[in-house]
Amino acid sequence: MTTLIPSKLKDEVVSRYKDCPDPRLKEIMISLVKHLHSFAREVKLTEAEWIKGVEFLTRVGQFCTETRQEFILLSDVLGLEMTVVELNHGTDAGETEATLLGPFYVPDAPELPKGAMVCGNPPGEPLDVMGEIQDQKGKPIVNALIDVWQAGEDGLYSSQDPNKAKFELRGKFRSDCDGTYHFMSVLPKGYQIPTDGPVCDLMRATGRSLWRPAHLHFMVSAEGYKPLTTHLFVKGTPNINEDAVV
Ligand code: BEZ
Ligand code: FE
Repeated sequence: MTTLIPSKLKDEVVSRYKDCPDPRLKEIMISLVKHLHSFAREVKLTEAEWIKGVEFLTRVGQFCTETRQEFILLSDVLGLEMTVVELNHGTDAGETEATLLGPFYVPDAPELPKGAMVCGNPPGEPLDVMGEIQDQKGKPIVNALIDVWQAGEDGLYSSQDPNKAKFELRGKFRSDCDGTYHFMSVLPKGYQIPTDGPVCDLMRATGRSLWRPAHLHFMVSAEGYKPLTTHLFVKGTPNINEDAVV
């Protein structure tokens, strides 16, 4: 490698992308390089800190499995997923606030009839969930698909708990001809983000709350409409003002 004076290093790396055939990839990589260099210079990153960072990201990757997504969790506690959500969803009048997907969504939950219990007939305080899917002007949307997932009364999602079936506390429902939907469930408990991994270690080292207040997740889609991912919090749930996720 040629020796470069430090101030030229960033420009040199940026120039290496000049022949990138994909203009969007080129834009993203050049911006990423610039911000990473600025970050390292701003905090005067030491070599020991750099290797610690590499080891941390390596552990994050090693914790990922088919049912565990430590990178999404990291992105969520850093506020990155919410930033992407904000950038891609409007705040127009009548639009429900979009929120994050998080690390616990499992695709392909079974579709269930209106009024049915979410999968697994889970134990807990019974919960009746009813609502109406509307467009921005308040017109009911017929046949919207509502994909629901939540933690149980023990604060665990099925993907975290070997005692739960794959789709326990999950299910898809359709809105009726008047836009309404209805399903039965149990009251979810608030929970701590997974405590055995590197993201939790970082949260503890930085004195941050590990708690998510109790909530239900919804992913709503309908023909001709932009899909919406959102979640509803249980009224009065503890930790609402110290959510680990931003
Ligand atoms: C969740 O609500 O499922 C969640 C979102 C982000 C991080 C951890 C959990
Ligand atoms: Fe959740």
